[in-house]
Amino acid sequence: MFVSVAAFLGLFAVAAVTSETIIDLGDERWILQNPSLDISVPGSVPSHAHLDLLENKIIDEPTYGLGDLELRWIAYANWTYLSPAISGLITSSDISTYLVFNGIDTFANISFCDQSIGTTNNQFRQWTFDVTSILSNCTKPPALALSFISAPVMANYLGNLSNPTLNCSTCFEAQYEFTDRLFIRKEQSDFGWDWGPAFAPAGIWQPAYIVQLKHKEIYVLNSMVDIYRRGQLNNLPPDQTEPWIVNASVDYLGALPDGTGMRTTIMDTSGQIFLSGPLSDVITANGTITGDVLVDKTPDLWWPSGHGDQNLYNMTLEIVDGQNKSLASVQKRIGFRTIVLNQGVITDEQSSQGIAPGANWHFEINGHEIFCKGSNLVPLDPFWPRVTEDDMEFLIKSAIAANQNMLRVWASGSYLPDFFYDMADEYGLLLWSELEFSDALYPTVPSFLSNVREEAQYHIRRLNHHPSLALWAGNNEIELGLDILTEEDPESTVSAKQQYEKLFLDVLLHTVYDNSRSISYSPSSTTNGYISLNHSAPLPMVERYINLSAGSIYGDSDYYNYDPTQAFNISSYPVARFANEFGFHSQPSYQTWSSSIPASELHFNSSTILSRNHHYTLNTSTFLTSAVDPPVPENQTEMSLGGMGQLSQATLMYFPVARKLDRRANFTAQIYTTQIFQSEFDRSQIAAYRRGSGQAQRTLGALYWQLNDIWAAPTWSSIEVGGRWKLLHYGARDIFKPVVIAPYFDVESGTLEVWVTSDLWQPINGSATLRWYDWSGKALANGTETHVQVGPINSTSVWTLNTTALPFALDNAVAILSVDATRQDGKKYNHTHPFYPIPFSSDRVQQNLHDPKLRLSYSVKQQTFTVESQAVAAWVWLEHPVGVRGYFTDNGFWMLPGKRDVQFVTQRDDTKGEWVHEVTVSSLWDLTQP
Ligand SMILES: *[C@@H]1O[C@H](CO)[C@@H](O)[C@H](O)[C@H]1NC(C)=O
Ligand SMILES: *[C@@H]1O[C@H](CO)[C@@H](O)[C@H](O)[C@H]1NC(C)=O
Ligand SMILES: *[C@@H]1O[C@H](CO)[C@@H](O)[C@H](O)[C@H]1NC(C)=O
Ligand SMILES: *[C@@H]1O[C@H](CO)[C@@H](O)[C@H](O)[C@H]1NC(C)=O
Ligand SMILES: *[C@@H]1O[C@H](CO)[C@@H](O)[C@H](O)[C@H]1NC(C)=O
Ligand SMILES: *[C@@H]1O[C@H](CO)[C@@H](O)[C@H](O)[C@H]1NC(C)=O
Repeated sequence: MFVSVAAFLGLFAVAAVTSETIIDLGDERWILQNPSLDISVPGSVPSHAHLDLLENKIIDEPTYGLGDLELRWIAYANWTYLSPAISGLITSSDISTYLVFNGIDTFANISFCDQSIGTTNNQFRQWTFDVTSILSNCTKPPALALSFISAPVMANYLGNLSNPTLNCSTCFEAQYEFTDRLFIRKEQSDFGWDWGPAFAPAGIWQPAYIVQLKHKEIYVLNSMVDIYRRGQLNNLPPDQTEPWIVNASVDYLGALPDGTGMRTTIMDTSGQIFLSGPLSDVITANGTITGDVLVDKTPDLWWPSGHGDQNLYNMTLEIVDGQNKSLASVQKRIGFRTIVLNQGVITDEQSSQGIAPGANWHFEINGHEIFCKGSNLVPLDPFWPRVTEDDMEFLIKSAIAANQNMLRVWASGSYLPDFFYDMADEYGLLLWSELEFSDALYPTVPSFLSNVREEAQYHIRRLNHHPSLALWAGNNEIELGLDILTEEDPESTVSAKQQYEKLFLDVLLHTVYDNSRSISYSPSSTTNGYISLNHSAPLPMVERYINLSAGSIYGDSDYYNYDPTQAFNISSYPVARFANEFGFHSQPSYQTWSSSIPASELHFNSSTILSRNHHYTLNTSTFLTSAVDPPVPENQTEMSLGGMGQLSQATLMYFPVARKLDRRANFTAQIYTTQIFQSEFDRSQIAAYRRGSGQAQRTLGALYWQLNDIWAAPTWSSIEVGGRWKLLHYGARDIFKPVVIAPYFDVESGTLEVWVTSDLWQPINGSATLRWYDWSGKALANGTETHVQVGPINSTSVWTLNTTALPFALDNAVAILSVDATRQDGKKYNHTHPFYPIPFSSDRVQQNLHDPKLRLSYSVKQQTFTVESQAVAAWVWLEHPVGVRGYFTDNGFWMLPGKRDVQFVTQRDDTKGEWVHEVTVSSLWDLTQP
């Protein structure tokens, strides 16, 4: 179960080559204890108490059934992790001994040889303790004890206004299951979120070591490599003709002798030395040694997926003594690229191209604008120590397979391990990364700020060398929340803003700028950007907030609308430079539900399924002020008003009502329609934001909410817990293709516009066709074909037509739009998109539908499924049984009469290949049948 130790060390683990003694505390036989609950069981490091209780069969799988509610006692209890007497330690007067914890979750009193050595209060920090003198006085082999205090209890204690430690009368939070999360530095979603459970686990969740150093020996705690163009400043596009500078530093334990220096060797892909030699300007201070080197050669640049190769270099960084003997060495895999979040004012040149005034808000990679296609990442599990490298790699591969080039690592999970960034470097996936603050106004007392500074500095330095690292954002949605509050009550927002700026525009901005020149910083995920940026000012960035000029466009958008009548009304979507959050929820598959809840609960709105819906509120624009009025519902009637009610309203409005008598069939029908609605709504927005690249708003990004799930529940995800792709993930894969054709329909007037959009960096040329069919699959009149040409990252209107003037009944008509195009270098692209003017909830449409008589066959030899249809089949859906993880090369597609071949990309198969015989196929037609 605890296979992931390596995951947190990373592919290229920090490693020192000297002969110091390191004892991995993960190898010791720990005990997990709670005397008042009469529990004493074997424990692990790294782990969480929940996982050790599970391992010892004290509890069942926490995410099964009602575990979220029934296991609160674990979160409210105090747990102690006890090590055995640790043997093998050297006791000699010239040895220094340290405890190094790469992460403790969260509040622990630590004792060593029965002496208290310190307390911890931040899940995200690395902690070190010098225990040299305690060890020298210890009369027996020493043992360690970590006594954890309940995080929810501690949060309430620190948030209590009568407690002077952190009390903050102006603080507030969007509140979920446990309250006062803002007063503690722990994964904020551990206290519940609208897509997740609240377990608030405790434990030594990252590797831990005892380190013993002799004279001149040092231990590497952390290291940082910053690669930038000479003269580059954060947030500003650098001069691409300047040479590269590699700045590197190492944070260490121990004492460096005088005359210590640094040297590096950088190897290219072919194993040749690209650069080798000493670093200049070496400075040693405060446990850190830093130096830099000017690169006098031209490296092969790193590019994100779809825009070039992911060229990587292996770097060895060494600390050397005066005789050039290596004292410590660190391996890192690096890449040369610049990435900037450009928020500059719209230039005259841009205006002359038709771009609306205001400010930019887009990414530039190596000096090129890029359209970012992607999604938002939430924690993979409530218990990180059991997340495997396979789980992480599958998500990255799935994002890449869905034509995504960016993920936003959302601000209230955890900082991710190096392994995740290493994989993203390899696959070319940009990671917009966030510091862990979300939907709350946080305290700003000095002790809180210094705790936060330590946390941020550790991860900013740890991750900076990854070419996939695209941005540091300070928080999730807090600026948006402040803007909403300012509009309601400008007076009372003044002090909130000061507090906000202290944390996000002073402390955290400086922590990024002090440690990196290569990475841009944005205080908040959703923002109207800055008004001014001056690196020499004490507060370099001045935010725009809602000081907007009419007719100007700024910043990025965060948009949710649960009124289903507006879902396909394109004029209701936000018009911004970038769309960083939007989406709708849906049910996970029957297979995923069946692994997570008892069989008796596997039916429409069963009480367990209702309890998994944590999206209680009807109006999300109140997300911040909801602290005043906690959204937790009183009863099941109220629960069904929020998320569950929205799912029903949306599906009833657009799809046939399931009239299945069989409970399973009826539930499966609801799952399927919620997944279609989610996919269609998200796709409609993605198409609109992509089209915006060629309109005045010059939109250059669309990241839907959310990529993955933490458990089985009705959520916004496109991939279910366990890895099964929802219909949305296939839908996103399709609409994120480089060149797409899409309909933009105005229901009121009946006007259909068809546009072709391309995010390629070279122009494309080709043809677009529009063909009408009736539901039997018979071609209707009035098809059309035309030449199309689209410039780099642009869109073109192909047709505008009046559907009310067509010579056939719209309730028996579907248009198939398609584009075939060629890039300058000869590479070919194609895309098709169905368009139907009248929703399937219409009785007349339902009467006109034909049974496609779908047939599925499998060829063992070709490892290919073939679907055969005899009429138009909408959202043809292949489902595989549990026991296999992977994805179909196509799914959720439409068919005209004919055949379609589909393969399956397998990551893991526990069925020895038997699963292929249990794949099913269905389509919208099946919903209309009893
Ligand atoms: C947990 O420890 C704290 C601090 O010592 C104490 O106040 C609290 O009562 C303990 N809780 C339980 C359930 O024992
Ligand atoms: C260790 O023992 C020495 C001598 O008894 C004493 O002076 C010193 O304070 C002790 N140190 C600790 C950390 O207990
Ligand atoms: C870097 O080192 C790793 C591990 O030794 C090796 O697998 C990889 O091929 C190297 N990559 C380059 C670019 O040299
Ligand atoms: C070392 O730390 C001290 C105290 O925090 C600080 O004043 C000083 O600037 C630091 N030195 C360097 C070179 O960072
Ligand atoms: C559920 O709560 C709502 C509002 O709090 C209340 O109006 C309703 O009567 C309650 N329903 C039941 C069945 O208790
Ligand atoms: C069948 O599902 C629909 C929603 O799709 C729901 O309204 C209805 O209550 C369900 N019927 C049964 C018997 O579960």
